[in-house]
Amino acid sequence: MTTVTPPDRDRTATRLLRSSAEHSYDPEVEIDWEAPFAEGKYFVPPHRSSLYGTALWDRLTEEQRIELTKHEVASIAGLGVWFETILMQLLVREYFKQDPTAPHAQYALTEIGDECRHSVMFGRMIARLGTPVYQPDGFNQWLGKWIGHTGTGPRMYAAILIAEEILDTLQREAMACEDVQPLVRMVSRIHVVEEARHVRYAREELARQIRSAGRGRLAFDKLVIGRAAYLTGTRLIDPRVYRAIGIDPEEGRRAARANPYHRETMRWAGERVVEFLRDLDLIGGPGVPLWRASGLLGTPKS
Ligand SMILES: [Fe+2]
Ligand SMILES: [Fe+2]
Repeated sequence: MTTVTPPDRDRTATRLLRSSAEHSYDPEVEIDWEAPFAEGKYFVPPHRSSLYGTALWDRLTEEQRIELTKHEVASIAGLGVWFETILMQLLVREYFKQDPTAPHAQYALTEIGDECRHSVMFGRMIARLGTPVYQPDGFNQWLGKWIGHTGTGPRMYAAILIAEEILDTLQREAMACEDVQPLVRMVSRIHVVEEARHVRYAREELARQIRSAGRGRLAFDKLVIGRAAYLTGTRLIDPRVYRAIGIDPEEGRRAARANPYHRETMRWAGERVVEFLRDLDLIGGPGVPLWRASGLLGTPKS
């Protein structure tokens, strides 16, 4: 049972609106999209590459390692755009139900504005990287459409938080890492500043909604939340990235799943949101096996 007592939602929204006015970035202006890549720099911190420390990694040349991280950051950005597109649909639907004079409603629109710029920014970055667009397919794609069209309440905000907080943890480290390409560091910095507001908004709204949700509703939502965690954990690095360095996707996927460094990265990336969702008792029931398989609890199956 939750012990979180969220503050009044319009008070929070008023603060977030002020912060949005003071700290919002236009990636078109802030980023030098024509700048060449820096020689010898990675696209994610090397120790965060999914194959770092494996026998496969040892066999790669330095150029191949850098190339792998380029595809890995493209995969993370591709999943980011995918989640942001779903989130924009959810927020516009929530906004539609509310009083347009209320700060809480106005902040939902402001967040959509942030996500519009982010998705353009991530799209431009993927184009600049010159990689394929890595996004969920098959059942995951169907699930995304379904959540986009029907998601409300706790499952909506929890699914959003899982994606936003994991991305945020990875990007906070990347923006400070000297081994990482300046383009990726800049994209990460812009995203981190603006996402802090989104995380605040979603955390408070989720805590509020839990208090009014019935038990039947929460049991179903826990299953959907577990599936969203599974999708994020297993698709953050799309197995197709390994093709770029001549490794079969299935072989690469298996090596990453068994890699203690990568397992630790996933546990670390999920730690903050896992703790928050646990406090709200949202990791439980039929969602637990999915959470375990996601790797975000630190006990992935190989
Ligand atoms: Fe975003
Ligand atoms: Fe966001």
